[in-house]
Amino acid sequence: MKIVSIVGARPQFVKAAMISRVIRKDHEEILVHTGQHYDEEMSQIFFDVMRIPKPEYNLNIGSGTQAVQTAMMLEGVEKALADEKPDWVVVYSDTNSTLAGALAAVKMHIPVAHIEAGLRSYNMRMPEEVNRRITDHISKLLFCPTEVSVTNLEKEGITDGVHLVGDVMFDAVEHYGQQETDILQRLDIKPGEYYFLTVHRPSNTDDKANLENIITGLEGENIIFPAHPRTVSSIEEHGLQLPDNIRRIKPVHYLDSLTLIKNARKVITDSGGIQKEAYFLGVPCITLREETEWVETVEDGWNILTGADPQKIKDSLESFEPTGDRSSSYGDGKASEKIVRILEEQV
Ligand code: UD1
Repeated sequence: MKIVSIVGARPQFVKAAMISRVIRKDHEEILVHTGQHYDEEMSQIFFDVMRIPKPEYNLNIGSGTQAVQTAMMLEGVEKALADEKPDWVVVYSDTNSTLAGALAAVKMHIPVAHIEAGLRSYNMRMPEEVNRRITDHISKLLFCPTEVSVTNLEKEGITDGVHLVGDVMFDAVEHYGQQETDILQRLDIKPGEYYFLTVHRPSNTDDKANLENIITGLEGENIIFPAHPRTVSSIEEHGLQLPDNIRRIKPVHYLDSLTLIKNARKVITDSGGIQKEAYFLGVPCITLREETEWVETVEDGWNILTGADPQKIKDSLESFEPTGDRSSSYGDGKASEKIVRILEEQV
């Protein structure tokens, strides 16, 4: 079996690390990196620490508007697929790289397998929601992480090719979660004495009021903040200054990120993946969004949605405590193996 896997952004490197390892045991994989994330600390370092194979293609697309970035990816992926003629194209989650990979493939009559299918925020202002909806509707195999994601697909009439396999990000935490790094020593911080913050969603970064409100909500607390390049530019463009309690550091790699999450008092984030990682590692999470795709984390009482409301953020920092047990909604840590077995059966 020959598989082309399309990646481009940080969370996809994490998932590809798990899947590539399984594919390459018995099959051929061609990895295409769109270049959506290109800074050393947003891309190469993930390949190094997670030992992800070097991509056979790097399209070096980089930044652009939504349309320009996606269009350039479509063109590049189409060329790679014409050369490689794979049995499957595998795409991950919901980025512009996902959409471009799936769209290029389906028009060349190459079947698409979507990993992390069926997630919905029901907020069409998010580019990710558009990407994931379209990708789900043009994929032949849909690998769902949770029961809720299977139900979401059913509601849209998608039942063929749907497989509940569990969450590849849970596989990754099971695999890498014990490998603590020395990041706490490097930053001279102690377990339980800091909050871990990430913010990068356009709804929070591009809107000055939201960004200011988040900073206000965090007043007085000891915050470690690995800042995404989008957020760094927004802070500068809006002429904002981070107060002293928010310690900005460069983006961190996966193992440092897990270590910082695991040892934090609480996690504060608008990332999808980090909400789950906090849950897997048993750390309370405050989510700077009005809705989440990962509803199980909220239903189980480990995640609270505050949006960018400064009072809600402040109250949650002070008093939000998990109220229930964590469930096994995200599978048994073997999603990657299950996915590759199903791909084999369907060739
Ligand atoms: C993308 C995904 C999002 C995912 C996130 C993970 C889309 C629409 N969004 O958002 O689903 O959660 O990745 O991080 O695909 N930049 C750099 N260096 C880099 C990468 C980006 O400076 O290595 C800058 C770009 O110039 C751009 C900004 O960061 O101005 C945002 O990058 P972009 O690719 O648009 O998406 P993300 O916000 O990272």
